[in-house]
Amino acid sequence: MDILHSAYNPEHFREQGHALINLLADYLTDAQSSRPSLPVIPWRAPDEQYEHWKNFLAVPGSTEDFFHKILKDSIHLHQPRFMGHQVCPPAPLSALAGLLGGLLNNGMAVYEMGGPATAIERLLIEKTAQVLGFDARQAGGFLTSGGTLANLTALLAARSRYAGAHVWKDGHQKPLALMVSAEAHYCVDRAARIMGWGDAGIIKVPVNERFQMRTDLLEMLYRQALEQGVEVIAVVGSACSTSTGSFDDLAAIGRFCHSRNLWFHVDGAHGAALAFSRQHRAVLAGIETADSVALDYHKMLMTPALTTAVVFRQDADSYGTFSQQAQYLFGETEREWYNVAKRSFECTKLMMSIKAYSLLYTYGETLFENYVDQVMENGRIFAAMIEAQPQWELAVQPQCNIVCFRHAPPGLSAEATDEHNLRIRRRILEDGRFYIVQTAINGHTWLRVTLTNPFTSAVEMEDLLGFCEKI
Ligand SMILES: Cc1ncc(COP(=O)(O)O)c(C=O)c1O
Repeated sequence: MDILHSAYNPEHFREQGHALINLLADYLTDAQSSRPSLPVIPWRAPDEQYEHWKNFLAVPGSTEDFFHKILKDSIHLHQPRFMGHQVCPPAPLSALAGLLGGLLNNGMAVYEMGGPATAIERLLIEKTAQVLGFDARQAGGFLTSGGTLANLTALLAARSRYAGAHVWKDGHQKPLALMVSAEAHYCVDRAARIMGWGDAGIIKVPVNERFQMRTDLLEMLYRQALEQGVEVIAVVGSACSTSTGSFDDLAAIGRFCHSRNLWFHVDGAHGAALAFSRQHRAVLAGIETADSVALDYHKMLMTPALTTAVVFRQDADSYGTFSQQAQYLFGETEREWYNVAKRSFECTKLMMSIKAYSLLYTYGETLFENYVDQVMENGRIFAAMIEAQPQWELAVQPQCNIVCFRHAPPGLSAEATDEHNLRIRRRILEDGRFYIVQTAINGHTWLRVTLTNPFTSAVEMEDLLGFCEKI
């Protein structure tokens, strides 16, 4: 068989596929057991990693070896000792939907290149809008590749509404700005700068002792900007912030935006998922007054990266984002919900809707509610554990499954405590049996966990603290 036919051979695919699924199922059994055989992170420094793979790939081997090696050497989110960044261990079924999408490779830019996934995308957005409390008849939106892009996209829609429809053609006629908490994810700052607004275009609102935006300062900062000749067009609320998982008072931001006729965007990349939980959605009160919301299904809703919903309270706003014309793709009609590239940054796009919808279709939204409730409960348990131990400190009472904490043995200066915690984090990384991260809060080093694995229990949390105490 020639090489082309071999690469597309259905029987080879069947064989390789079965072997891979068997490998992955065994891997999951092991990863989710109480004593996984692999480290959570088999740490190698970047240059060493590069050399390692260069050497590995230089020697011919079987496809099975290749897959097995990648599996073994990667970071393992399905292990309960994975407590690091905000990416979730995807439910295996959604990964299968990803495989389906990968093989079909429907390009999605225009309707003809992905009809079913386009319709499912609209249904997923309708579901998301409804859960967020929007009027589903008015709301709309689409999926895009990550929270970073979703935030930029929503802010482009804000600009389109307030800077005039001709901004594409004529550029900016006046200096524009947005206001956002000093604790917001860096991608909001980046979005303002991508739009060419520069330093003056991003007004960082100070935070309170819980790292939430000081909404009492919004009016003063707004007036100050006006006096300096800068026109504020949007306020971005964080739900929640990345570092400490703090939720801004969305209702207060919404009221302010309403009073000043500003765009209200919520960066809910991590925490907007709480809308699926009856127990926890109250922290999002006011989100339904937002003009737009970004929500990552790959952070808190069990779906493989990247799957982000950007939802607009008024569907019409979602068409203002890119007023560029691409006649060869879209034809004459203006608002075509089904030609998704008209509104999303991407042209060709992954069939992301089927990854999230495979879970909704099979298990219903109770699955998302149970997941959110479980990981939130894990945040509460871990924080209580920290509080109960005299040598451990909480940076702030957590509002979700992001917990910042540190080991503070008596007698250490502030600097020595920072160094001690840096050392702990370094040792954990190099050891590989746990994965946690670190963050800087008020100039000091704190350890940070995001408990996205629903099977992380008090046992793993206690083991982690015990391990740290021995460093
Ligand atoms: C609050 C917040 N917004 C945006 C992002 C960026 O999202 P993504 O990594 O999907 O681009 C993150 C990522 O951690 C985040 O925490």
